[in-house]
Amino acid sequence: MPQSRLGNPAQFQFRSTTPISSNHDVPNDLPSFVHRMKESMYQAHREKLLEQLDIEDAAMIAWTGSAPIRNHDCEYRFRPDSDFWYLTGFDEPDAVLVLLPQAELRSVLFLRERNPKEEVWTGRRLGTQAAVERLGVDAAFDIEEFWERLPGLLTGVERVVTATGHDDARDSKLFALGAKLRRTVRDGAEVPLEWLEPQPFLHEQRLFKSAAELELMRRAVAITAEAHGAAMQATAPGVNEAEIDALLEYTFRRRGSTGAAYNNIVAGGENACILHYIENREPLKDGDLLLIDAGAEWDYYASDVTRTFPVNGRFSADQRALYEVVLRANRTGIEACRPGVTFLAVHEATTRVLTEGLIGLGIVEGPLDVALEEKRYQPFFMHRTSHWLGLDVHDRGTYYSEGESRELRAGMVLTIEPGVYIAAASEGVDERWLGMGIRIEDDVLITETGHEVLTANIPVSVREVEAACGAAEAVRS
Ligand code: GLY
Ligand code: MN
Ligand code: MN
Repeated sequence: MPQSRLGNPAQFQFRSTTPISSNHDVPNDLPSFVHRMKESMYQAHREKLLEQLDIEDAAMIAWTGSAPIRNHDCEYRFRPDSDFWYLTGFDEPDAVLVLLPQAELRSVLFLRERNPKEEVWTGRRLGTQAAVERLGVDAAFDIEEFWERLPGLLTGVERVVTATGHDDARDSKLFALGAKLRRTVRDGAEVPLEWLEPQPFLHEQRLFKSAAELELMRRAVAITAEAHGAAMQATAPGVNEAEIDALLEYTFRRRGSTGAAYNNIVAGGENACILHYIENREPLKDGDLLLIDAGAEWDYYASDVTRTFPVNGRFSADQRALYEVVLRANRTGIEACRPGVTFLAVHEATTRVLTEGLIGLGIVEGPLDVALEEKRYQPFFMHRTSHWLGLDVHDRGTYYSEGESRELRAGMVLTIEPGVYIAAASEGVDERWLGMGIRIEDDVLITETGHEVLTANIPVSVREVEAACGAAEAVRS
């Protein structure tokens, strides 16, 4: 294993003078207006959904699940279900929310009851009493009573919106209960006959971010900006991918992030050609590029950013030429983002510029229209340009409406992330390109008049990136 440049823990200290910042500073406390918005945010989400459910004559059950087992009796750290969090702002495991627009108690939360003996082992619990006051739900009961109380709650309800397919045992219990209710119906009482997925109701709502949600996303982006800056500073030949991975994680957590929004991708050299490379344990080599795809969450709201930069701090001429192709495509995709443009049109504009660049470098054969028609770029750019971003990194919400690519609207957030991946085994490509993987990914908010790049302050031009690289600084000094 090569000598680590980060062997001395003192080097993990961040410089307060770091030139990397985002659109938003990262204060120690949330600004008070965010506090105020946040307090009512989850309640507002519930109210909006309840209105919709009322129109649809439906109830909803939202589950958050339990911490999954990692091995034997060790669990992964719990992360709430995004739908459940969106509606409650409550992140303990083993809880269920029932929304009943036509009942007296319209929002009923089931959660773990206080139990001092168990809390000594497994941590503090909010409990039913505090839940009503703190979360603003109409009623709260012990989760142990959920299956017993559910038939009563669902009596009179004809349609139930709930996510199925995640937990077979839960689905079976739910459908068995539905069958039982239908068999025992008396005196014309209505019982659930239809089970619907949350997609058209809740996920459509989640697609459009409120000002309060956007504040949380900006905060996630600010931490991500700091982490990418720290990674650029710390990278040099001989440093291991694992050290950069740990540095990202450290930056996220020390800034109060709820964690990485997805597994960090820290991919040196040809590892960048594996789209979801997460092993992150190889030494970084002089002359290679490093691709980092990493984003912090804030209050479980995601950011999703990729930057690619030279391990030794200076792009070679070939690396720079290919990087600039990807950058032009990224800028083109971003410029295309405005209300009324379709999701597909953004991808097509990006792909066109990327393909044009690849033809220019002799990696793809022209002419452009034939190359596009025959998708000749696809061996090197095999994923979509964008996805929705929100509580889930690949956020919920449809991409097509009645068979047509849907139009962008104010309040949506999407990524723009073109990439070029030329695996070492690629055939018919000049060997100088082999083993290069480059992706540039930004997070873009659609506004009434166009767009705002939430990640605008993370170095991206060749000049900015080289200036931010610690290895280049070391050579300079
Ligand atoms: N980090 C996952 C993605 O870029 O889609
Ligand atoms: Mn992405
Ligand atoms: Mn990403």
